[in-house]
Amino acid sequence: MSIEKKIISPAQIREQEALCRQIAAVLEARSPRPLALVDTYGCQQNEADSEKLRGYLAQMGCGFTQDEFEADIVVVNTCAVREHAEMRVLGNVGALNHSKKARPGQIVAVCGCMVQQPHMAEKLKKSYPVVDLVFGPHELWRFPELLLRVLTKGKRVFAAEKSDGVLAEGLPSLRDGAVKAWLPIMSGCNNFCSYCVVPYVRGRERSRRAEDVVAEAEELVRAGYKDITLLGQNVNSYGKDLEPSVSFPELLRRINAIPGDFLIRFMTSHPKDATEELFETMAACEKCAHQLHLPVQAGNDQILKVMNRNYTAAQYLEKVARARQAMPDLVLTTDIIVGFPGETEEEFEDTLRLCEEAGYDAMFTFIYSKRVGTPAASMPDPYTRADKQRHFDRLTELANRISAEKHRAYEGQTLRVLVDGETGREEYNLSSRTNGGRLVHLKGDPALIGQFAQVRITGSNTWALYGELL
Ligand code: 5AD
Ligand code: SF4
Repeated sequence: MSIEKKIISPAQIREQEALCRQIAAVLEARSPRPLALVDTYGCQQNEADSEKLRGYLAQMGCGFTQDEFEADIVVVNTCAVREHAEMRVLGNVGALNHSKKARPGQIVAVCGCMVQQPHMAEKLKKSYPVVDLVFGPHELWRFPELLLRVLTKGKRVFAAEKSDGVLAEGLPSLRDGAVKAWLPIMSGCNNFCSYCVVPYVRGRERSRRAEDVVAEAEELVRAGYKDITLLGQNVNSYGKDLEPSVSFPELLRRINAIPGDFLIRFMTSHPKDATEELFETMAACEKCAHQLHLPVQAGNDQILKVMNRNYTAAQYLEKVARARQAMPDLVLTTDIIVGFPGETEEEFEDTLRLCEEAGYDAMFTFIYSKRVGTPAASMPDPYTRADKQRHFDRLTELANRISAEKHRAYEGQTLRVLVDGETGREEYNLSSRTNGGRLVHLKGDPALIGQFAQVRITGSNTWALYGELL
C-alpha cells in the first residue's frame, strides 16, 4: 500500500529548536533552574518518543525530576492499548491538581496514543482543567511550538487532529542510559487486528530511510552503545513504502556491517511477514541477537481469523520450527490475549496447547480490553470477567512453568552477557543480558557496566538467571 507521506524536514525541526531557546528565556524568568518530569506509559516506541521530548526539554534549559511537586513542566506520555493503562493515566493526571496547587505556574501536558482518540481528548478538555496542553503522536515534532503557545497566550492548547501520520527526521533525543538504545525504524501499523487501537492512533506504516537509520546506528555505536533495539509495530514490513524498497533483512545486514562490538535486537515481528530470509539473516549476521518476539495472540484458528491475524496456528508453528532450525539457540517470546469476544473454553485450550508446543522463553499475557472504534468492540462477548480471569490465571501458570524450565536448562552453561546496570542489591549487584535477552544477575565491579563478559550460570528461577563472572 502506498500512502502520501507527510515529511517533516530537518529545517522544520531546526525552527522548533529555535523556539526551545525562546522557551528557555521564558522559563528562566520564572524559575532559576526549571525542572521537567516526563512520565511514560506503554511500549518501547513511547519510551523512544519520551527520549525525544526530553531532548527538546533539555534544549529549553530544563533539568529533570521524578517529583511532580518540584516540576515546572509535567509531560504525561500515554498509551491506549488497554483500558488499564488509560485508567492509570487519568488517575495520575487528576492527582496533578495537588502539585499544580502547590506550584501555580506548573504546566501539565498530556500526549501520546490515548489523546489521539477524540473521546479521550474531549474528556481531558471537559473534565481535567489541570491539563494545559494536549497533543497526539503526530504533533510530537512541534511540541516546542505548542508549549510556547501555552506559555505566552496563557490558554489551553489542544492539538490531536486525525492524521495518517508524519515522518520527522532530526529530532533531538536525550537517551536513558549509555548501554542500551532504542532505534525506531518506522511508525504506524497497517494490519488492523480487530482488537487493536494502534492503527487508528499511530496512523499508517511509514518507514524511515535506510540511510537515516544506518546513520543513527553508526552514531550510537560511536557513542559507545552496545545493545541497539530496532523498533516498529511490525518491523517485517519495514521498507515496503520506500523508493526503492529496502527489506528488513537488508536493513539488518547494513547495520550488521557497521564496525564495532554491539548487539542488534528488534521488535515487534508480525508472524505473517516473518520470512525464512529473516531467520537466515539473523543466523548469518554475527551482531544480530538470536531473539525473536513473535506475538501469536491466540492458538485457535477461528479466533485468529476474527482477530484478523492472517495466519493459522499450524502456519505459526511452522515459522517457529524454521526459525529454530536456523538458530537452535533462539530465545522466543510472545504476546497473548485471553478472553477475546466469544472465545470459548475449547478455543482457549488451543492457546495452551500452542504455547506448550512453541516453548516460549517468556510470554506477555493480557486480558482482552475493549477499544472504542475497533471491530472487536462490537462483537458479542458473552463471557464474564471471572471466566477470563480464570483463563488468564491458567495461562500465567503455564507461562511461568515453561519459563522456569527454560531457565533451568541454562544452569552450568558458560555464556557471554552484556553487563547493563546495577540492581541496588548487595548479593547480586549487577544486571546483565544474554545474547537472547534473558536477564542474568551477577556480583561484580560496576566498572563492568557496558562491557561484554563471560559468565557461568549457577542458578535460575522463573524470571531470571544467576551467574558468576569468569
Ligand atoms: N486488549 C488486550 N491486549 C491488547 N493488545 C493489543 N490490543 C489489545 C487489547 N485491545 C496486546 C497484544 C499486543 C500487545 C502489545 O498488546 O497482545 O501484541
Ligand atoms: Fe495492533 Fe496488530 Fe498492528 Fe500489532 S500488528 S499494532 S496488534 S494492529
